[in-house]
Parts: sequence; C-alpha cells; structure tokens
Amino acid sequence: MADSDALAESTNYFVDIPQPTSRFPIKGGQHLGWGMMNRLATMFNPVSGNTVMLAFDHGYIMGPTSGLERMDLVIPPLAPQVDVLMCTRGAVHTCLPPTVQKPICLRATYDASVMFDDMSNGGGIAADIINAVRMNATCLAVQTFIGSPGEKNSLELLARLVDAGSTYGVPVLGVVAVGKDMVRSERFFLLATRLLAENGANVIKTYYCDGFERITAACPVPIVIAGGKKLPESEALAMAYHAISEGAHGVDMGRNIFQADDPSAMTKAVAKVVHEGCCDQTAYEYYLDTKQS
Ligand code: 5RP
Repeated sequence: MADSDALAESTNYFVDIPQPTSRFPIKGGQHLGWGMMNRLATMFNPVSGNTVMLAFDHGYIMGPTSGLERMDLVIPPLAPQVDVLMCTRGAVHTCLPPTVQKPICLRATYDASVMFDDMSNGGGIAADIINAVRMNATCLAVQTFIGSPGEKNSLELLARLVDAGSTYGVPVLGVVAVGKDMVRSERFFLLATRLLAENGANVIKTYYCDGFERITAACPVPIVIAGGKKLPESEALAMAYHAISEGAHGVDMGRNIFQADDPSAMTKAVAKVVHEGCCDQTAYEYYLDTKQS
C-alpha cells in the first residue's frame, strides 16, 4: 500500500548542497547520452582516467598469429589484469567465458586478409548493432583507411556504425590503419585522428609518433595507442610512457603483450605506466622482477 506518511516525515533535503551538474571525466563525452557515458566509464579507470585495452583481434586478418594460436588458453588469465578486451565476435563466442567481468570492444568491421596485397581495399560490417548489444559489447571497433583506396568505404562504415551506436548508446572506437604506401608521420596522424573524431568516433586507436602531444591536443576524444609489431619489452614500455606523457589516455596493445616473454608480467608493467604514472625504467624493472624465467 502506498505510504503517504513517509512523505510527511521526510526531512533530508540538504537544501544547502546544490545538485552537481555533469562531472563526466572522459574527454569529449560531456554531451553524450547516459547509456553511452556509462559504457565509456566502464572502459576508463576512474582514478587514472586511462585504460589498458588488450587487443587480440589479429586473427580477423592474420589467422593464428604467433602468441594467439590458442586464445582460449592465453586470454582468460590476462583478462583480470586489463580494463577492456578488444576482439572479434568469434573470439568472444568461442574463447571467452561469459563470466568474464570486463568490457568488450567488439571488432565490428571485417577487412581483406593478409593474403591480399593491400588490405585497405574495402571491408564491411562484421557484427551489426543488434548482435553487438546481444553479446553485451561495450564498444564497437571500426577499422579505417585514411589516405588509402579503402578510405571512402571505411568512412561510410564508420558513419553507419556511429549512427547505430548512438541509437543504442554504444560508443565507437575508430582505428587508424596505416595503408601499405602511407608514412607514419605526425601530419598523417593529425589528419586521420581528427577526421575520425569529427566523423563521430568516441575513442581513437592510433600509433605513437613524433609530435604526439600535438596529435592528442588536436583530437577532441581520447586516444589510445596500438603497440604494433613486437619490440623488446623495455622499448614497448618506453613507447607507452611517452604516449601517456604526451596525452594518450591508454594503450590498446596486442603483440607487445601476448608475444612478450611473460605476457602476464608485461600486462602488469604496462598498467604501471598507464595507471600509476611510472616511468618506463621503473616499469621495466618491475617487469624483470615479476617475470617468470
Ligand atoms: C590493426 C589493429 C589490430 O588488429 C590490433 O588490434 C593491433 O594491435 P597491436 O598492434 O598492438 O598488436 O587494430 O589496425
């Protein structure tokens, strides 16, 4: 039965304390809808404001990449140490236990495989928004090919998935791919990152390069860096450190984690840089101390 006495007796109005206006901490996210803000907030650590994303989507173009031959064995032990898992829907369905408590950034587009000379020629939608929501994806990853033959097609896919994501409150991660004939220059990344943000991506994945602080300054949404090909662990940590110092909000790293001598120790060392502000030398010493020989 309705309780009208409770209304008469209520006194805790705190009339001196104004209700806060939006305090949403994620760059460029202040005017999004609640569902999208909530999904983004699960991807970024509330204290550091940054994220460690583990990318293991490589099989979608490269097949059983070294270190990822058995995703079912490699990924579940690493999952608790990262903030987000980035992968294909096939990987989610077959290799991730549904009890996993981490946001999933779902690769929503497909591209030509490495069997073709240039993968940038044009892909399509690999998972639509209904299926993404059904599998509880937190974010959609869309590959783009700025300055390459596949540019127009990939921007069309980005626009369609941003529209769909906006309808359902699912943010989009725009991935800057570097085409076969493109140079990894400041000029290219300034253009590509800004272009994806202006076309509606909520987070951008790109590569670290010289002049990175200008790229992060000019991009109105958070940037996370890809690791790229495997480097010695000390160099991968130095790259992460420079990226964070110059305005990146995290990493979306694959090969430099799962191909490391000790992927678990490397994940924790990367997190030291991304969340605790450790310099690369400290993080590398931590890696050496933690690593199983
Ligand atoms: C390509 C990608 C990858 O498939 C992958 O996520 C890259 O990760 P890494 O370079 O750190 O191995 O996004 O554009």
